[in-house]
Amino acid sequence: MVKNSGDKIRVGVLVSGSGTNLQSIIDRSASGELAADVVCVISNKADAFGLVRAAKHGIAHLHLDHRSFSGRQEYDRALVEALKSFNVDLVVLAGFMRIVTPVLLEAFPNRVMNIHPALLPSFPGLDAQKQAIEYGAKLSGCTVHFVDSGTDTGPIILQTAVPVLEDDTEKTLSERIHVEEHRLYPAAIQLFAEGRLTVEGRKVRIS
Ligand code: GRF
Repeated sequence: MVKNSGDKIRVGVLVSGSGTNLQSIIDRSASGELAADVVCVISNKADAFGLVRAAKHGIAHLHLDHRSFSGRQEYDRALVEALKSFNVDLVVLAGFMRIVTPVLLEAFPNRVMNIHPALLPSFPGLDAQKQAIEYGAKLSGCTVHFVDSGTDTGPIILQTAVPVLEDDTEKTLSERIHVEEHRLYPAAIQLFAEGRLTVEGRKVRIS
């Protein structure tokens, strides 16, 4: 059971790259549409533009280089320590290009979300847009899900479909999906903030 209510939740966002999803969350939080404050942004990559976005908005940001740790668990221990130091209620993976371990998931049970650029369970893993085009799918989209120990296998919170057009390239499909992601992720976070998400096995009930 995931339960929150009342005040704004505290969100920690993990990124590896551009961070346009991070930006949409920050913007909706600033406009008051989203009852959540992004309290820290952590990247495993020093040059992630997501860190610049955080800095511009005066949000605490941190580069935690995975290469300075002896393994995934050690890295996740450092992540947990940082996220706990900011008292985060929810961990949001937004283009975070790392597999997370039970160290993170057990520290934040049913409190780690991810967004994936396909309609799961289709096309999990890397290059989801390319997979959809090469498969000949007519529809793809995006999925927000709670993270479990598999790759893009956790309980699905929200999904949006977009058409795959005949002349789509990876770039054009990615752009169409991104537009929807920027709506979908804040919507899922808002449901969490309102305490409306209950995880029952594989299913997420929205009250
Ligand atoms: C998004 O397409 C998301 O689905 C995937 O990584 C991408 C991140 O994009 N997990 P951005 O950095 O938020 O622009």
